[in-house]
Amino acid sequence: MEDRIRRTHELIGPALRAQVDAMHPDLARAVGYHLGWWDEHGTPSRAYGKASRATICLAACTALGGRQSDAVPAAAALEMVHQQSLIHDDIIDDDTLRRGRPSAWTAFGTPVAILAGDSMAGAAFALLAAKDGHAADVLRSAYLRVCDGQAADLALEGDLTATPEAYVEMALGKAGALFGASTAIGAVMAGADQDTVERMRQAGIDMGVAMQVVDDIRSIWQPSSGTGKTTKGDLVRGKLTYPVIAALRSPDSDELAALLRDPQECDTVKAAALVEDLGGRADAEEFAAQRLRLALGGLAAVPMSDEGREDLLRVFTWASATHLLTQF
Ligand code: IPE
Ligand code: MG
Ligand code: MG
Repeated sequence: MEDRIRRTHELIGPALRAQVDAMHPDLARAVGYHLGWWDEHGTPSRAYGKASRATICLAACTALGGRQSDAVPAAAALEMVHQQSLIHDDIIDDDTLRRGRPSAWTAFGTPVAILAGDSMAGAAFALLAAKDGHAADVLRSAYLRVCDGQAADLALEGDLTATPEAYVEMALGKAGALFGASTAIGAVMAGADQDTVERMRQAGIDMGVAMQVVDDIRSIWQPSSGTGKTTKGDLVRGKLTYPVIAALRSPDSDELAALLRDPQECDTVKAAALVEDLGGRADAEEFAAQRLRLALGGLAAVPMSDEGREDLLRVFTWASATHLLTQF
């Protein structure tokens, strides 16, 4: 997928760049840094993210018979919204690392990172507004769902009674909504009918939930060198992620619950081992695999070319990052 990711960045880069160039220089510096275009000092770099939402939007559009170029502004907007959610997410989660580098607020300070995120949200909607009203509506509602999901994520912090249902509701917003918008907007740009747009949205949502559970697993067990984020960050912050919620439902979870009651003082190595022993990791892996199957099944039911479907299935599987689970 390396070439594919590079190609997506080439396609959406100019539209993103035009938006960033119009920002106040202090904000442009922080946004370009967060997007991986340069380092803290402005020296060019290629510390890009995977651009999975943009890639999925482009793939969905072409799979449904649309022209890739028609979906480029929307793909850029989706990437911008996603990156906006991350720049603020690192402030919310007190995370000092993103993609192996200091997070934007760590490098430029919280006030600039807040404003940079605000500008990114405005820029994202500017990219779409001129292009297509329907796609802009889809993006706007997804953006609001992401905010809801982030609020639900905060509300779950430290709540040891959290249920898998509450988790799923949170993940549908935090991660599902924007992936759903990516597939749906790709379909809109291909001129698909409403039923197809809805099916594509649902498939994207399911894949996003799978991706989030995989992200939860990686946060606890994958070494920082692989995630580019702080190891066990979710445990330190008392995040009620899927593996933790699943483990806490075991009748033998008293010791884990006692540890998690004081997350900052908690022995995270021990907590991670307990979550695994109690079956939380295995449950989470099964849940993620099941959601991905649901997403792939959803795609299989949408009429499109065989080639396009194969491509989308490949991109979905990659974006959910389930393949990474076998590596640690
Ligand atoms: C980030 O969720 C989701 C959004 C920004 C909407 P997380 O906090 O779980 O993700 P990472 O692990 O920091 O990337
Ligand atoms: Mg985070
Ligand atoms: Mg978060």
